[in-house]
Formats: sequence, C-alpha cells, structure tokens
Amino acid sequence: MVLFDLPVVARNTRLASNTKSPSIDRRVDELLSRMTLDEKVGQLNQLFYFTQFMKPEMVEPDIRAGKVGSLLFITDPAIINRFQKVAVENSRLKIPLLFGFDVIHGFHTIFPVPLAMASSWDPALVEQAQGVAASEARAVGIRWTFAPMVDIARDPRWGRIVEGAGEDPFLGSRMAAAHVRGFQDQDPSSPGRLLACMKHFAGYGSAHGGRDYDSAYIADAELYNVYFPPFKAAVDAGVGSAMSAYMDLNDVPATGNAFLLRDVLRKEWGFKGFVVSDADAVGNLVTHGFAEDKSDAAYRALTAGVDLEMSFPGNPVSNAYATSLTKLVQEGRVTKDQVDEAVRRILEAKFKLGLFENPYVDETRVATIHNDPEHRRLARVAAQRSMVLLRNEGNLLPLDKRDSKVSSVAVIGPLADSKRDIRGSWSFVDDVKSAVTVLEGIRAKVGPSVKVEYAAGVDIARAFQSPFAILQGARPAAWSEAQKQAEFEKAVSLARSSDVVILVLGQHEEMSGEAASQSTLDLPGRQVELLKTIAGLGKPVVLVLINGRPLEISWAAANVSAILEAWHPGSEGGNAVADILYGDATPGGKLPVTWPRSAGQIPIYYAHNITQEPETKKNFTSRYWDIPTSPLYPFGYGLSYTTFSFSNLRVSKPEVKLGESTEVLVDVENTGRRAGDEVAQLYIHQRFGIASRPVRELKGFERITLGPGEKKTVRFTLGKSELTYWSAAAKAWVQEPAVFDVWVGADATATLVTTLRVVAR
Ligand code: NOJ
Repeated sequence: MVLFDLPVVARNTRLASNTKSPSIDRRVDELLSRMTLDEKVGQLNQLFYFTQFMKPEMVEPDIRAGKVGSLLFITDPAIINRFQKVAVENSRLKIPLLFGFDVIHGFHTIFPVPLAMASSWDPALVEQAQGVAASEARAVGIRWTFAPMVDIARDPRWGRIVEGAGEDPFLGSRMAAAHVRGFQDQDPSSPGRLLACMKHFAGYGSAHGGRDYDSAYIADAELYNVYFPPFKAAVDAGVGSAMSAYMDLNDVPATGNAFLLRDVLRKEWGFKGFVVSDADAVGNLVTHGFAEDKSDAAYRALTAGVDLEMSFPGNPVSNAYATSLTKLVQEGRVTKDQVDEAVRRILEAKFKLGLFENPYVDETRVATIHNDPEHRRLARVAAQRSMVLLRNEGNLLPLDKRDSKVSSVAVIGPLADSKRDIRGSWSFVDDVKSAVTVLEGIRAKVGPSVKVEYAAGVDIARAFQSPFAILQGARPAAWSEAQKQAEFEKAVSLARSSDVVILVLGQHEEMSGEAASQSTLDLPGRQVELLKTIAGLGKPVVLVLINGRPLEISWAAANVSAILEAWHPGSEGGNAVADILYGDATPGGKLPVTWPRSAGQIPIYYAHNITQEPETKKNFTSRYWDIPTSPLYPFGYGLSYTTFSFSNLRVSKPEVKLGESTEVLVDVENTGRRAGDEVAQLYIHQRFGIASRPVRELKGFERITLGPGEKKTVRFTLGKSELTYWSAAAKAWVQEPAVFDVWVGADATATLVTTLRVVAR
C-alpha cells in the first residue's frame, strides 16, 4: 500500500504577484520616463522562437533594438542566456526579457494531464506537482508558464477538456488555486517558481459543437456561476497574468472584449497582473470580422485590455502591436497613457520577478534539478492518485502477482507500449525514452517468474494530422491491410494463450488537447472489435484506458470485468498502472466530468436544472426515447478496492440567518478489509428562489484515507459564499431565504440527505 502524507499548506494572504509595491512603482516610473514610444511598444511584443527551425540571428537584432519584450517556447538555457545577454548588455535600456513556456503538467518530469490531476480531488498534490514542474522549467531560465487552463468544459468532444479540471466550477476553482500556488508559491520570484497565467479568459470551453476555437454564447448567469469562478479563484490565489481566449464570446472576440478584460477582470476582481493575448489572437480580430485591419485590431485589443501580444514571427496576422501601435499613438487614436498602462504592467512583472537583478540562469545546475529522484517519485504518486477505477466485477482487481495459477499475462493494445502517449499533450522537452509504459510497468512489477507478452493488435491515427506534429514528430506510417490482419490475429492468439489479459486502449496524445476535437467519443480504429473479440475468449480481462476525455465505452461497461481510467498519467504512468492493478496502491480518484453513454447526450453535466418533470419519475422517457437520460458514470464517481459507508449526516444549525454559516458533518467508514481513500462530496440544492437552481451543486469535498474498519467524521462549512449565486433577474449576487437539500456521499448521486433552512435576518 503506497500512501504518502501530503502537507496541506494553508494560505489566505494575497500573493505578491497580484499586489502593488511602492518601490517597484518608482522604478517603473523612472524607467518609463526614459523610454521612447518604440521601446514601449517593444515591451508589448512577445515572439515565438522555435529552436528546431529558427536561428538566433533571426531575432537578435530586434532584441538589441528593444523591439521584443518577451519570447516563448525556448527551452535551451544557453539560448535563453544568449538572448538575455543581448537584452541586458547590448540594448539601450537594458530591460531583461521574460521567457515563457507552456509548462502544463510537467517539464522534464511529466505529471498526469490536468484532467487527471483533477481526478485526484487532491489540491495539495496538484500544488506539489506544479511546484516540481516550476522548478524544472525555472532551471533552464523559463520564468513564466501559460498555465493553469481553468476553462470549464462540459463537452468532451472539445479536445482541450484534457487541459482543465472538467465540468464543475467548485472543483475547478479549488484546482485553479492549487495550480497557481504550485507554480508561484507565495511569490513567483522565489527560487524554483514561475509566474502563472490563467487561461483562456473566458468561455473557451463552451465552443459550439465542441469544435476548437468556435464561438461561445454564454448567458450572464452561466458566465458568473459556471465559467468565471475558477478564474476568480486564480485571481484570489494571486495569479500574476491572464491570457485572453481565441473565440467570440457573445459575438465579441475575447481578445477585444472590454467587458471581460476591464469590467470583470480589473474592476470587479481587482486583478493587478498583465494580460497576454493567445497566439495571434490580436491579428485574428480581423478574421473574426471584428477589426477592419491589423492596425484596427491592435487598437481594439489594447483598448480592451490586452497588454502583451503573442505572435508568430513572419505570420501575416502577427505583430499587430509592433507594426501599428506607434502610428496609432501618433495619429491620436491610442493615447500615450493607454500604452503606458500596458507597458507599466509588463515592467512591473519583470521587476517583481527579480529579472533586473538576476537575468541569467545557471546552466550548470540543470541536470541536478531535473534528475532529482523525488520528482519521479511524486509523479508516480500523482499518477496513482489520479486514476479512476470504473468497474471491478467480482473483485477481479487487484491482481495477485503471487497467484500460482497465473503464469502468463498478455498486455495488448495500441497504447500498451507507447512512451509518447503515456505522457499526454504539451509534453515537449522531457526525455521520452524514460517514460514508463504499461507494458514496462507490469513487467517490472511481476518480475521474471511471470511471462509478460505484448501485441499492439490495432493501429490508430487521426484522420487529419495535428498541427503539433511539427513539434512532436510524425507517427510511423499506417499499417498495410495485410499487417493489420496479422497484428489483430497475433493479439487474439496471444490473449487466448495467456492466463490474464490487460487491454490498454484509448487515444494518442494528439487526439486530445489543442486542435484535437472530435465529432464522436468513439475509440479510434478497430479497438472495439479487438475488445469484443478478446472479451469473448472467456479470459479475465482488465481494460486500462489511456486517453484525455471520456470515451464511449458502454459495451465495455457491461461486458468487461474491470476498467481502470488511467488518463495520460505521465512519465511514471506505467509503473502507477501496475501499482494499482497489483494492489500496491489502491485507486481513489473520482471523475471530474460526467461520463456520457454516447456523444448524443452531450452536453451532459450533473449540475443541470430540473425542468418540467423530475427525471427520477418512474418511466421518465421524455428526454430521449432511445437511451436513458442518465450518464454511464456520474460526476464524482470512482471505486476503490475497499468499500465505504456514509452515515449520520447532520447540520450543526438546521436553520441559519442570511449570511450565517453552519457546519455539515458526516461519518465515513471503511467497511472493507483494506485501507483506501474516499472523497466525501457535499452537494446542495436550493429548492426555490428568484431563479431555478441546479439539481445539485458541489460545495465541498475532502479526500480521506481510512484503514480497514476505521471511521472518521468529515466536516464542511456551508455559509454565505456557498449559498450565494449570481442571478440574472437581480443582475447581482444573491443569497435568499430558502430551503436547501444537503447531500454528502461518494458521487453526484449521493442519497444521504438532510435540509438546511436559511431565513431572513
Ligand atoms: C495557443 C494555446 O491556445 C495556448 O493555450 C498556449 O498557451 C499558447 N498557444 C502558447 O503556446
């Protein structure tokens, strides 16, 4: 049993990255007073630099001339130092560059993808993991990460669901704050930390049809109650920067949206950091049919509140600020103060990060930091804690490596031995060879006495290549028809001759993530055929899923004894799968998304409103007549190797006045014979008021470990912030006198319920 004590760090102070400092204000004023307009515009210009196909000479003249303030995608410390030297020694004002990179779920050591990390329901673990990721990126001179992505996603066709915490604003907010604390700690200038960037502000997860970059139409109530809370939580945790989203929000592109960037972000939330555009999103305001031309795009983005433009050098839609802002000021369309406001924020960040004092990185320390064995240990724990056991009929799992009846194990499937896919998208600079596949993990676990053999069985591929193939490298050519048949038969015959089959199915890493939406949730290729054929052999079959979104697995859910959702679990993923399958770790992850029966149910999420008739009514078939309304697995669901019971649910004060708090208490007992983790989840429903409220809303959770027979009381606070919502009718946050149902249990279908009455003062 591997269970680690993870320290929970209580922090309620506002972090340094989101506060003002008088001494920094003075330094910024002094520097601003010496800058030419062109040099100011230079600070608002951020460029991609790809070591793979660019040469330093392509950007150095611009750095020397003060035309670039920030660069992204450089991960070689020698190039970072080289460019920094040009900026701080050879440019007129010696302003250091800010180097950014997408450190999403690891850098040298890859942690589980963010959706998986959310499945841990363990914010302290997420904080630790991002602390490690930050230290590894910082070791090469990166000072800023474009993470966390805190977009709520309720459509698993949308590829980027893998990059966030799933469908729920409460879980999403807790995760957002944990990511920010992990990256920045108290202060992003502290050793081993990065400046975080919450993204994509806002509404990107609501893209029509789940199609990446497509428009979003989100009513105010849904914006405030669902899409905004994780961003607000990140701001409260002190996040130092924000990225504007690509898409139109209610017909106004997010990158030219003053409601989002000024009214909400700055005025309502008091955000003090800076805003960067998503890549080429400024120039793309023209594509949207919003700006007349590139200059108009620069005007609209800057005046809406985008401080820094992220650009691809050479792309015709890029460099809108660099090419237009000076002229816009000269023409009087943009004021000097508007430019100064944006420049001020960038300089402030550079001062706060200590870049003026310490612009360089020590290249000699990289290997030591990257190869700290503690990082791999934590990655393994994070992967174990992120996995979700979806099914375990007849307690097939855990397998027993000492079982004398099992002398051969077949590990089958296109993901079973794929180092690239165990890691997940946004893994660019780790050592792929060191990633542990499921096959390797199982071999290491069972040792030489058990024969472990492998067959891929099928090959899978995207219909259209990912734009990231240029960075990740192309996949091997598709199999010929003859090879396809031979490999399929080889896998079936291997299964037939083995005592146990571990089928590892799912998706390639580039099948989810950016530009990776899909129209169905089908397992690609002939994977279902392989699954059905092998399951028909009558052997014990364990299905392990490696993927970045819920997939259609209804057949498996009815016919395969054990299903483990491993997601893309990272560098140590294969070891963690083996730990779970063989009982050295007990699964305790829970779904951060509702798992549909089929794509036709999308959008499907637990916190929907109840309309017309209760769906629990007998013979309720009004929503669809061909399939049930319920999902395959509910939000919050996940099994363990032991069992738990919830009892004795009570509220300390069954009646409270508006604004007052009460405690909710519940006893959780491990009723099985092994130690294990349960996540106690608190849901509420407001029965009446000036708006219909969701049937359930998560308002508290705690992951606890209990020994066999052990019982613990879990406490939650239910007060004003949990009982308040944003009302379209009132155009305000409201808390109303009402009756609330209060459930605590193991998922969003928990049945243990009590009530709380809120009365007027
Ligand atoms: C585009 C993506 O939408 C964003 O998430 C990412 O941070 C930037 N590119 C930079 O890579």
